[in-house]
Amino acid sequence: MTQIDAYIAEHEQRFLEDLKGWLRIPSISTLPEYAADVRRAAEYAAAQLRSIGLDNVRLIETPGHPLVYGEWLKAAGRPTLLIYGHYDVQPVDPIELWQTPPFEPTIRGENLYCRGACDDKGQTMLVFKALETLMATEGGLPVNVRLLIEGEEEAGGESIEHYVRTYPERLSCDAVFICDTHMPAPDLPALISGLRGIIYTEVEARGAVRDLHSGTYGGIAPNPFHALALIIAGLKDARGHIHIPGLYDRQREAPPQEQRFWQEDPLHLAETLRQEMGVPQLSGEPEYPPLQRIWARPTLEVHGFVGGFSGEGAKTVIPASGKVKISMRIPPDLGLTAEEVYRLFERRVKELAPPDVEVSIHKIHAGEGVLVSPEAPVIRAATAALQQTYGREPVFIREGGSIPVAALFNDILRVPIVLMGFGLPDDNLHSPNEKYSLKQFFKGLRTVARFLQLYGQGA
Ligand code: BES
Ligand code: MN
Ligand code: MN
Repeated sequence: MTQIDAYIAEHEQRFLEDLKGWLRIPSISTLPEYAADVRRAAEYAAAQLRSIGLDNVRLIETPGHPLVYGEWLKAAGRPTLLIYGHYDVQPVDPIELWQTPPFEPTIRGENLYCRGACDDKGQTMLVFKALETLMATEGGLPVNVRLLIEGEEEAGGESIEHYVRTYPERLSCDAVFICDTHMPAPDLPALISGLRGIIYTEVEARGAVRDLHSGTYGGIAPNPFHALALIIAGLKDARGHIHIPGLYDRQREAPPQEQRFWQEDPLHLAETLRQEMGVPQLSGEPEYPPLQRIWARPTLEVHGFVGGFSGEGAKTVIPASGKVKISMRIPPDLGLTAEEVYRLFERRVKELAPPDVEVSIHKIHAGEGVLVSPEAPVIRAATAALQQTYGREPVFIREGGSIPVAALFNDILRVPIVLMGFGLPDDNLHSPNEKYSLKQFFKGLRTVARFLQLYGQGA
């Protein structure tokens, strides 16, 4: 047993208690009534960084939620790694579907259940504990590190964007490490080679000045919900095709090798996802392979309707207004920025709006996608670390979700990005009963410690 394994074995209960303490804080960044809890979660992270022995640990105030910063820059002659994570979480509704309360960390079987157990407190905590383990057993770190932990990731990440653009020199580094992604199966380690960007919007339709009796006015009144339904149907058809002029004009082809992987899906990833979703067949554009549909094609999804009558029973009313939340995922292959896609979307919605309603469109947040190159030394170190802890070569695959700050680091800091996470496909991110596998937590911890050592040795 190595000294590192011995330290982890000796402290594993406390590591879990430290994670549970963080998980109990309901740091839901998108809901204003949780702002004080979000701050408490930031302070909790800062206390962790101090206890590891990092320097210059502080909260960086922003117009939104604070960033947490810490550094250790005493590995002379070694590279500097910027480590990113997020301490905010998604809302918990529908709460009645949780088997145990969302902010009461509970171990059932081999998993720890709680909102944030995986995304991203669990994954960020394992990185903290890898640093602690190295500090405690080796009296220092094999590389220099800066940590920047965000509290607005799930709400669009506006403040970190401003910070990175304003103070790039405070984040100077040779590479970025983000532990906020998945691997396809517990025995199949992965490094992520691409993420999609996103725009998140609200479209509101207004009709009459007030709600109307649907008998008295039905036949002459505008109906905002019907108008929204027509707009939605015009944006994407029943075969999954998005009809937004200009969306595909600058599309680029992926390398043949990647296209072959999508076509053949040798790891049967699409079938695994189908089973997990509990559906008889996959939806979406039939002429593209499923892996291309989730990684490299744009999507348009409706998330919710707001307004109108949605209570029990019947109410004969024509609502005066209605609102719908729509997002799009934007693969890097599209050759368009999120802002450019937003403008095309806006124009198309206006074009589809029936003349009897007034439609307004509002952008809630936007972020770019990214492709990372597999060539950098830091990727080699991550690959070797995964190979050593999991006993097999990691796969280099894309992820359909978004981590907007990854593209930002890529653009502004111009360094390679390592997207190495230990989540599993059934972790229920953003859903009821989010969980993290305890095995993955400890394996991830060992992998990250190994990764830092290998990166420090120039491997
Ligand atoms: N950690 C996720 C991204 C992710 C999702 C990685 C699934 C791997 C698998 C991240 O926290 C997230 O949820 N991002 C948002 C971004 C948005 C709110 C700007 C997303 O993808 O919806
Ligand atoms: Mn995340
Ligand atoms: Mn998330």
